[in-house]
Amino acid sequence: MTNTTAPKTARLTIGDTEIDLPLMHGTEGEVAIDIRNLRAKTGAVTFDPGLGNTGSCESKITFLDGEKGILRYAGYPIEQLAQQSSFVEVMWLLLHQELPSKGQLEQFTHDVTYHTMLHEDLKRLFSSLPKAGHPMAVCAAAVGALSTYYQKVGPSTPEQQWSDAIRLLAKMPTIAAYSYKHSIGQPFMYPRNDIPYAANILHMMFGTPCEKYEPNPVVARALDLLLILHADHEQNCSTSTVRTVGSSGANLFASVSAGISALWGPLHGGANEAVIDMLMAIRDGERTAREFMELAKKKDSGVRLMGFGHRVYKNYDPRALILKQACYDVLGQLGKKDPLLDIALELEQIALNDAYFIDRKLYPNVDFYSGIIYKALGIPTDMFTVFFAIGRMPGWIAQWLEYQRDPAAKITRPRQIYQGSNTREYTPVGAR
Ligand code: CMC
Repeated sequence: MTNTTAPKTARLTIGDTEIDLPLMHGTEGEVAIDIRNLRAKTGAVTFDPGLGNTGSCESKITFLDGEKGILRYAGYPIEQLAQQSSFVEVMWLLLHQELPSKGQLEQFTHDVTYHTMLHEDLKRLFSSLPKAGHPMAVCAAAVGALSTYYQKVGPSTPEQQWSDAIRLLAKMPTIAAYSYKHSIGQPFMYPRNDIPYAANILHMMFGTPCEKYEPNPVVARALDLLLILHADHEQNCSTSTVRTVGSSGANLFASVSAGISALWGPLHGGANEAVIDMLMAIRDGERTAREFMELAKKKDSGVRLMGFGHRVYKNYDPRALILKQACYDVLGQLGKKDPLLDIALELEQIALNDAYFIDRKLYPNVDFYSGIIYKALGIPTDMFTVFFAIGRMPGWIAQWLEYQRDPAAKITRPRQIYQGSNTREYTPVGAR
């Protein structure tokens, strides 16, 4: 809704120059200063390392309010989607910013089911990589390699972009499962098109050709929930990477491959793996929870409380709230207990009552509790971030498509503040 009484410009004074910069207003009341003409009019640029104050695009996909702890996909609260929707439906929602009709959902489910197989030759790519290689590296390589199977000449058409999107959504679980099977030396399992998306991932990961494997519906539903919660998170590091690579005209597979690499870092998606390492170190007596927390507060220790803090959330991450409850539900349904959950709860309690974390507004983020659920589901630790990538796939694709369709989109090319040497004369090496 446009607010007609809202101010339209912001005045900026630099020395003797005064300019009015237009203001933009988002549908949820956010205000942005449009500085597109700033450099042309004043010669100055803005300085914002980490881009924490910079809107890089307009988007209709995801809204989040970090102060209030709100997350919505195309207007639908994450809590409602987590409870009532499915990951495949959420894929459609993110791609179209509308819920599908029954017929649309059936057709789409069919599409993301019937493109699951990989070209047989692509299997050799997995075999050529070291078994100990991290599966995120393997997935980034395999997704990038899809470009070689679906090559286009010239700019891609909307139809090609859509078929690439369907292929990527359908093939990512197969790629993820193959990366795991390769690491343990088991035969690759072909996808099954007669079972739902999440169940098929379990089949490809844990089935073998020797015996019949029926995915546990509790595990499949928990996995579906995790994928829904990870499906999009507006302009985070990996999504910005996907948009940036796509802004050069690079194809979808190349752009998403770069996004997978960005997600891998421990400050981003890799945090879910780091959280479990941290909890296990405490469980195994390396140091107590309290000792660990003291270390996390010391800047020079190099230790952070993993799964805590967020660039945007200055309140409880709503996904972490859902996952905390899901930890109890899933462990209960599977009849399991995990001391790591008790350690996580203890760390959270200490943090929520400690001035260091309170003053900095550091709360659990999505990665704090997700690893405990993945572990309960039998997912190996180094596959946690791969599951994050399967979940984030529709978000990356939706954001990439939005960028391609945006008439105002330009190649990403920030400026810098040069702080190096001024011009000087070159001296040949013999004279130095
Ligand atoms: N443990 C201890 N101190 C922290 C933590 C933490 N987890 N997070 C932030 N701080 C401190 C930080 O040292 C700084 O203190 P000071 O103001 O005294 O210098 C202050 O809080 C602000 O931190 P920042 O690093 O400037 O904040 P940022 O917005 O640049 O970083 C973050 C956000 C997520 C990278 C950071 O909070 C962090 O490293 N968290 C741990 C890793 C993690 O859980 N990452 C997953 C993020 S959510 C899912 C995703 O994106 O994939």
